[in-house]
Amino acid sequence: MQADLIIRGADIIDGTGAPRRRGDVAVTDDRIVATGDLKHWKAGREVDAAGRVVAPGFIDPHVHHDGAMLTHPDMEFMTSQGVTTVINGNCGFSIAPLKQMGSVPGPLRMIIEDESYTFPTYAAYRDRMLSAPAAVNAACLIGHSTLRINEVPDLGKAADADQIKAMARTLDQALAEGAIGLSTGTFYPPSRAAPTEELIELAKIAHQHSKLYVTHMRDEGDRVIEALEETFQVGRESGCGVHVSHHKCAGLANHGKSEITLKMIDEAIKRQDVGLDTTPWVASSTILDSGRHKQATRVIVAESEPYPELAGRDLDDIARQWNTDIDDALQRLLPATGIFFIMDEEDVQRIMSYEHTMICSDGIPSGSHPHPRVWGTFPRVLGRYARDVGLFTLEEAVKRMTSMPADRFGLGGRGRIAVGGFADLVIFDPRTIEEGATFEAPIAPAKGIDRVFVNGREVWTDGVKTGARPGRPLEQSAPVQVV
Ligand code: ZN
Ligand code: CU
Repeated sequence: MQADLIIRGADIIDGTGAPRRRGDVAVTDDRIVATGDLKHWKAGREVDAAGRVVAPGFIDPHVHHDGAMLTHPDMEFMTSQGVTTVINGNCGFSIAPLKQMGSVPGPLRMIIEDESYTFPTYAAYRDRMLSAPAAVNAACLIGHSTLRINEVPDLGKAADADQIKAMARTLDQALAEGAIGLSTGTFYPPSRAAPTEELIELAKIAHQHSKLYVTHMRDEGDRVIEALEETFQVGRESGCGVHVSHHKCAGLANHGKSEITLKMIDEAIKRQDVGLDTTPWVASSTILDSGRHKQATRVIVAESEPYPELAGRDLDDIARQWNTDIDDALQRLLPATGIFFIMDEEDVQRIMSYEHTMICSDGIPSGSHPHPRVWGTFPRVLGRYARDVGLFTLEEAVKRMTSMPADRFGLGGRGRIAVGGFADLVIFDPRTIEEGATFEAPIAPAKGIDRVFVNGREVWTDGVKTGARPGRPLEQSAPVQVV
């Protein structure tokens, strides 16, 4: 009846979707040791949480913080919004295993952050996270583009049989070393040339490890339906569970298409394992020369290597100022990233509230003017979409950020407030929670997040990081839950 820490008098939202109940949560070392009415318990430290919610720390299943775990180990853009676990290596790009930096393409360079990082194996990256821990836990997918960069000299071509074998061997080893799945990004040039068969062969390896195939699909605009069909095919022919990343219907011509895509997913789920995640914004963010600008009603330059001072400005304005057209201005700004207003609010809400959808930030933390989702995603869902819009209950919103991603990716002991589980916790005020980040000022902590604990240690307190770095590299430790 003695704990290290007791959080008293909170509304406990346990992550399962069950209604909140008033009570206490006791923590010893890195575990939750009791919940409920703990008035006979004593603790070295007591935190009064009356009027507050205590929930499992949020799990962000889709980020690009592979390098940031090492360059920004305090990870304030995550802890300040209640995130305690991230999944890296998404969209086909993982920091490891990479044989040499050489001529690494732009998007991968961006997530690596520091060119001195070369991790020829996943184990080398995992060991670095162990010896130089960050504030949050991290699991990692292995990127198909990264595998291709290692093994396919001409990235504009399909891999031949030997190259596929070499990629499969490297993937097999990385999954054995603890990486939690395979990611692809056939939207991007280093992988665009890969035919479906190449994806199927690699997905077979993920399936042998009972792990997932996670994909930024070939197309999220005019051909999103075909891209979904390809994803289902990869799943059927490899046997692997598939997970659609940041599902969206991009471009004016495709607004409303989520009615069709969600029905397709619903039908597919009857026959095979399909999951998905999404971000709560109508604007997306990626490299500036992705072609996305053609579908966008507005483009903000997030970062430009030759013109850092133009970060945050509209591409339209820059072109006007330079007396040129959009395409020329875009070329001159490269290498660069952009924020693209390409979605319809109705699609965003329809996808977010679909029963199998998890919440992700898809954050790319680099630069002075990132997408506000890097700092604001989870509080935005809890404040704007659960409380203000009423898209779902707060309990349901929390479930989509906790037990759902934990079960989907097999992160045992995470994502629930349960005795014996890890003490990843967030205390927040349900009346005031909202994102602080905006498109104008995107680097700002959320409002309403009081305290955040990772493995029992406090990493964020009332708007300030504590400096503690209790994060761990995570492996799959429970079966992946079939959707
Ligand atoms: Zn992506
Ligand atoms: Cu991504």
